[in-house]
Amino acid sequence: MGALAIPWLQRNRDRPGRAFSDKKPGDFTHPVVIRKPGGVALVDTGKKDSHGQAVMVACATCHDTRDPNFNANSGESLKEFHQGLKTQHGGQTCLSCHNHEDYNTLKRADGRPLDFSESMQLCAQCHGPQYRDYQNGSHGGMTGHWDLKQGPRERNHCTDCHDPHHPKYPLVMPVFPPKPVIGEAIPSADGEKSH
Ligand code: HEC
Ligand code: HEC
Ligand code: HEC
Ligand code: HEC
Repeated sequence: MGALAIPWLQRNRDRPGRAFSDKKPGDFTHPVVIRKPGGVALVDTGKKDSHGQAVMVACATCHDTRDPNFNANSGESLKEFHQGLKTQHGGQTCLSCHNHEDYNTLKRADGRPLDFSESMQLCAQCHGPQYRDYQNGSHGGMTGHWDLKQGPRERNHCTDCHDPHHPKYPLVMPVFPPKPVIGEAIPSADGEKSH
């Protein structure tokens, strides 16, 4: 949750039932903040730096010197890199969303580049009804206030709920702990907590 929204929500809880704005109604409305993904997407090289932190590199680091592959359309079709990418999204090719002229950006249907932080515009191009529902507040959820005179509202981004590569909303699966084998020690409460 954005740093903006938290103090307001806490204040509201501290003073239940009270409007916390001293301003007269209509004086001021709080903003609707749409959470955005961060600037440029990065890839984990699998290497660690001297502090043990994962070494992350920008897409263009490799792609500036590679020819684009317009046929790639799934993680399985890639043999050298990104193989683990799980893809299931209407059979689109990778380069229908990624910009082959600058892999640090996405691209719109008309070919214009689009910053990763603006990826909602990408989704909106093909999912007009859901985007309209989102704008009406009937898709995508919110936290904060319905009444913007009372406090700000924060909206999720499409990619908070849908992975762009396999966007189907995951079904919630109950997970049970493994049954202890007879004779085996049952994990201690401490052991459980560390999971
Ligand atoms: C360490 C080098 C490296 C980095 C960093 C990297 N890629 Fe790649 N990428 C590759 C290689 C190699 C392939 C080709 C894999 C194959 O065809 O087997 C590839 C393939 C792709 C493809 C398929 C289409 C094409 O042109 O081959 C897309 C899309 C892509 N990368 C996007 C990205 C994005 C987005 C990022 C950053 C988030 C990124 N890559 C970062 C090495 C890299
Ligand atoms: C429907 C549009 C779309 C398609 C198709 C698509 N991507 Fe992406 N991709 C995105 C978006 C949007 C992001 C940024 C995700 C974020 O903000 O968290 C992204 C992020 C990435 C990243 C960096 C983050 C990560 O998830 O690893 C890589 C690498 C990548 N894409 C490679 C590919 C490759 C390879 C393909 C084809 C097999 C592909 N993408 C197909 C939209 C797409
Ligand atoms: C170029 C067009 C295009 C773009 C861009 C695009 N989608 Fe899709 N999307 C599709 C198609 C095609 C399908 C498959 C429809 C079907 O199978 O009925 C789909 C399916 C979906 C589904 C339903 C998946 C399922 O299996 O139920 C979701 C959710 C979704 N997209 C979300 C997104 C999000 C979020 C973005 C932006 C990151 C995005 N899409 C960008 C074309 C697109
Ligand atoms: C709070 C989470 C959330 C956010 C944010 C969100 N969605 Fe969804 N989306 C869902 C859920 C839940 C479903 C329904 C899945 C189901 O019924 O199986 C869904 C379904 C979809 C579908 C499939 C068609 C349908 O209506 O069932 C598309 C396409 C889609 N969303 C696009 C988007 C786009 C575009 C955005 C951003 C503008 C977005 N979603 C934001 C949760 C979200």
